[in-house]
Amino acid sequence: MQQTGSIADLIQLGPWERVPAVQQPDWRDHPAYDEACRALAEAPPLVTAAEVRRLREALPGALVLQLGDCAESFYECTPRHTSEKLKTIDWLGDRFSELTGRSVVRVGRMAGQFAKPRSAATEWYDAVRIPSFRGHMINSDIATSETRKANPRRMVWAYEASDQVQRVMRTYRQGDRPTAMPEGPWSSHEALVIDYESRLIRRDPDTDELYLGSTHLPWVGERTRQPDEAHIAMLSSVVNPVGCKVGPKAKPDDILRVCEVLDPRREPGRLVLIARMGRDRILEALPPIVSRVAAAGHQAVWLSDPMHGNTVKLPTGLKTRYLADVITEAVRFRDILDAAGQEAAGLHIEVAADDEVTECIGGPVVDEEELQRHYTSLCDPRLNRHQAAELIEAWARGTTSGHA
Ligand code: PEP
Ligand code: CO
Repeated sequence: MQQTGSIADLIQLGPWERVPAVQQPDWRDHPAYDEACRALAEAPPLVTAAEVRRLREALPGALVLQLGDCAESFYECTPRHTSEKLKTIDWLGDRFSELTGRSVVRVGRMAGQFAKPRSAATEWYDAVRIPSFRGHMINSDIATSETRKANPRRMVWAYEASDQVQRVMRTYRQGDRPTAMPEGPWSSHEALVIDYESRLIRRDPDTDELYLGSTHLPWVGERTRQPDEAHIAMLSSVVNPVGCKVGPKAKPDDILRVCEVLDPRREPGRLVLIARMGRDRILEALPPIVSRVAAAGHQAVWLSDPMHGNTVKLPTGLKTRYLADVITEAVRFRDILDAAGQEAAGLHIEVAADDEVTECIGGPVVDEEELQRHYTSLCDPRLNRHQAAELIEAWARGTTSGHA
């Protein structure tokens, strides 16, 4: 067989690939690694530069609803599953629009949301310590030591699954129009796996600029937003709108540095900041960050993720969230942005397309016992459609009444 060079000789590495990156799978010595990277580098982009530009133009001043699974499943990328998800997004987007009298830009956590950062590298299962599930792009959700090994071929499978979903989304967005609807639905995911995202950076044929071809709106998570490390540097090199999660421990200076790297030119529609602080911690933590970002001249699209700071682990080991906490954080977020004279641009939430889902407590799910009924999330607990509608109604009313 012909001797092939290392992947670094064959593919141009981004400068950020020589910088530390946390939360990466350890798979560079896997026999399939080079071939998987090459396949991605040679593949067509999953989204077009024109679509990315259209979303960037739609974002400034818009009301935004970003939602979907915590972790997407390879097994739920069929046209049927995708249609169900898009119907849920539209149903909630229409409700949001009806209640606020504004048009709503819809963004799915879908068509690429296959990689999860984890606080613990391993977990106990049946008295055996096994690697944690890291999303279908990295390993299997099936709990054995073997199936939890990181497999770089999964990057190619993730590409193919994303492609299936993107095709359905494109048809939905386009209808029979020549250009896509500014309201979307657009795709988004956490840009976590540097090997995957880096191989899908492409050049916009019209402007010659680099854009990330894996999704319309990539975001960087709370655990990977170090301003001098690979994730932020990678997203700084592309022109997509880019998101960054902002947790309760974030210091205004840290976020300012991230903003400076991602948005040096202070461009409208470029930077999406997603506060995920927790019902109580948001009160102290968010106001100084909002005012510093505004004073530095960034025209950030501020979204509230009222889910990730409100996760609780029950004695059974099951993770859940109380809808009342979620609503309280979202309404507090609105109040904080209002008080700072900034716009609260919308919500980033984890929602299941399946109405039967019982993963969060509140509304139709009355207590902890009900959680056993239909808990199917691969990762974090999602709201069902009714719970998400309650949240949107509370946001539109601007009060937690009945929930505080
Ligand atoms: C997520 O959005 O699923 C997630 C892991 O978020 P965060 O980075 O905010 O913890
Ligand atoms: Co999550």
